[in-house]
Parts: sequence; C-alpha cells; structure tokens
Amino acid sequence: DEIYRVKQILSEFRLTKEELKEVMKRMQQQMDRGLRLETHEEASVKMLPTYVCSTPEGSEVGNFLALDLGGTNFRVMLVIVGEDEERGWKVETKNQMYSIPEDAMTGTAEMLFDYIAECMSDFLDKHHIKHKKLPLGFTFSFPVRHEDIDKGILLNWTKGFKASGAEGNNVVGLLRDAIKRRGDFEMDVVTMVNDTVATMISCYYEDRSCEVGMIVGTGCNACYMEEMRTVELVEGEEGRMCVNTEWGAFGDKGELEDFRLEYDRVVDETSINPGHQLYEKLISGKYMGELVRLVLIKLVNEELLFNGEASELLKTRGSFETRYVSQVESDTGDRKQIYNILSSLGVLPSELDCDVVRLVCESVSTRSAHMCSAGLAGVINRMRERRCQELLKITVGVDGSVYKLHPCFRDRFHKMVWDLTPHCEITFIQSEEGSGRGAALISAVACKMAS
Ligand code: BG6
Ligand code: GLC
Repeated sequence: DEIYRVKQILSEFRLTKEELKEVMKRMQQQMDRGLRLETHEEASVKMLPTYVCSTPEGSEVGNFLALDLGGTNFRVMLVIVGEDEERGWKVETKNQMYSIPEDAMTGTAEMLFDYIAECMSDFLDKHHIKHKKLPLGFTFSFPVRHEDIDKGILLNWTKGFKASGAEGNNVVGLLRDAIKRRGDFEMDVVTMVNDTVATMISCYYEDRSCEVGMIVGTGCNACYMEEMRTVELVEGEEGRMCVNTEWGAFGDKGELEDFRLEYDRVVDETSINPGHQLYEKLISGKYMGELVRLVLIKLVNEELLFNGEASELLKTRGSFETRYVSQVESDTGDRKQIYNILSSLGVLPSELDCDVVRLVCESVSTRSAHMCSAGLAGVINRMRERRCQELLKITVGVDGSVYKLHPCFRDRFHKMVWDLTPHCEITFIQSEEGSGRGAALISAVACKMAS
C-alpha cells in the first residue's frame, strides 16, 4: 500500500554501518592527502593550519572585542577576561547581534567590510568605549589559508556568501582597511580564527581534554589538535597545532558519488556554489529543509502525498525552512504542529499526510546525523592511531543550530559516533557563546606571548 511505497522511497536515505565505515575511510584518506605537502593541493579536505598551538598556560587579562561572522547571526562582543582564584581566569561577555543585509553578503567585499565596521562603531558607541584601542579576535567562519594567526587569505566563500573581491585576499587586511576608511575608531586585530576553533578553545577552558571542535549549523565543519610533525605545511616538530579540516568540501572530488541521491544533485545544482561543499550539503542547516521539500514534491508526483497536489508555495525553492524539520519532529503525536506548518505552506493535510511528512523529515535528518558521525569518527580514530593510545579519552566542543535545536539530531549523532569509535571515550560539550569567548581567549594568549 501507500505507506509501504513511501518507505521504499525513503529507504535510500538509510546508511548501514558498513557504508558509514566506508565514508569514514574515504574521509581519512582525504585528510591524509590534505596534510601532505605533495598532495594537499588536490585534496578535497584542505586541512588548514590555524597557528593555534598547544601552548603553556597564561594569558593577558583585560577587555577584548570579538567579531563573529559566518553563522546565522553576525555578532559583536565585548569580552572581559579576568583572573579567578580557582580556575585562574574568568570571562564575561556583552554582545549584540546585527543582521547582514543581502546586498552586503553578495555585493563587493568593500561593502561587506564597511558594514562590519559600521556595526563595530555602533557597538563601541553604545558601550562608551570608542576611545579605546582594544585587541580584537575575529571569528571568520570560512576556509582561510593562514600565514600566521592574524594573517590569511580567504580561499572561497561558502554558505551563501558571495561578496566579490574577497577570495584570494587577506581577510584581516580587508577588515583593517574598512576600519581605516571609517576613521572614527582604532582596533588592534590580533587573531582570526574559524568558528570550529573558537568553539574548541572556549570548551578547552572548561575541560582540558577538549581537542576537537565541531559546528553543525548553517554549515558543517570540524577542527582538532594534530601532531605538529604531521602538519607538513608548517615548519616545526614539537607539540600540536589545531587544524581546520574544512570537511564540508569532502566529496568535491567525487568521493561521495555513490551516496548522493537525486535530491542532493538538485540542491547542489540550484545552490550558489554548484560542485562545492558536497558533504556539507548532505548535512547542514542551510540545505536540510530544501532536501525535505524536494522529497515531498517527489512523493506528490508519485501521488503518495496531498492527493497528488502541491501548493504553489510548496513548489517554491526554499519554502520548507530547516527549522520546520525540527518542529515536525518535535510534534508530540497529536500532529497539531505538523498540521500548522503544512497549512502555512498552503496545503490541507490528512492525518496520513502528516505522518508521511514526519517520516520524510526523520529520514533526511537521520542521514545528516549519521553522515556527520562518519566524519567525526574518522577524525577521532585517526587521533587515537597517531597518538598510539590503547584508549583515547577526548572531549568534543560543539555548536550550531542543527545540533542545538533539532530534537533528535544530537542523540542519533552521539550514538553513531560512539558506535564507530571503539577504544575511544568521547564526551560532548555544548559551547555557550563559544565564538566570542574562544576568540577573546585566543587573543588573550596571543597578547601574552607578544608581550
Ligand atoms: C554560533 C557561534 O553560536 O554558532 C558561531 O558563535 C557559529 O561562531 C555558529 O558560526 C554556527 O551555528 P549557525 O547555526 O549559526 O550556523
Ligand atoms: C562552512 C565553512 C567553515 C565553517 C562551517 C561552519 O563549512 O566553510 O569554515 O566552519 O561552515 O560554520
């Protein structure tokens, strides 16, 4: 009957443990290629050195400004790093969110960075600190090839950003120029970090075993502490350096072709960056709702949903938002929430329709969680091998709207990661205001080292 055919169509989203192990293996191969001098140019997973190192304790205290660009919200934060008798430090933050207008995201780099400087100026006014030249930590959540902790070029935009004239340029330079153009305040930009790195560091201060950072939000990515001698792109043998994997681009060299479905191909072809970030497009919040919508349309066309008729709205790209996926799966069983969402999209669902829509959401979000587990298991198993440890005890700091807001993502994800990582004891902690605190703490350490 109908439900049977629906389940058959959705079965494509199910991944066996064997398949996940295969994804993990291929991810590890790309990670290896990304780290090696001879192969890093062709690797899909770029493994970018961050110049954030395992360093001796100790940091400057004082006021820091932090910027957070690249997630759902753009934020400016004031972070006060102080001393604390027990833990040696404490942080307090004040922050403000600013929305980034579409034309700043897709115009020129000058427009984007002028807008950022304008928000900073507004923030400094509001907190009466415009006269101070504060040290700044910049969380910039895109692939950057660093030359140092405060210098690096943007390789390519991801997640719907497209401002022209930024790719290939030093991002800190773009920010400094915009601040100079305004001329109404001064800032000492000391660090630029990826959001995964800021997340890891913010959690590191709670838990010294935190050596992995991960984001599952608009985008999806992870960083971890790698042995210096293996980071071939940077000289030096001692200690560890944090590597930003940029695993979202895994699959861009064809490594996921046997796992990508017809819906994935449509999502990619209609995106702003076709052919790029293919692994991210199977997982992250920027694409999850649209994947669900495409499956719903398929079921309508097969006359398995809504009597074979979709509304104009449901036929419109982007109309099924990712937060609806969370809301559908949070429905308590009376279908009210599902009914409301579908009516707001212009369809009048039967009870069976509501149940089918829920199955679709579960299929897409479960595949997302499992695909993501394969990546993290790849990173952690590799760390254990490199460190030659019987048992690796490690903590992962996590942030991002999908991880935090979806009702089941987290549990499905944790369970599969644990399943794929024998001889590892993994703890997950959720980062709170990770980017602000993380960027400020990294800057505080950098200031101490410079002084
Ligand atoms: C935020 C972090 O909480 O999570 C950001 O401060 C990060 O740095 C973001 O980019 C990721 O989640 P989302 O869902 O906003 O993309
Ligand atoms: C995208 C970006 C990456 C970032 C991730 C999460 O994958 O390329 O730098 O960490 O999104 O925000």
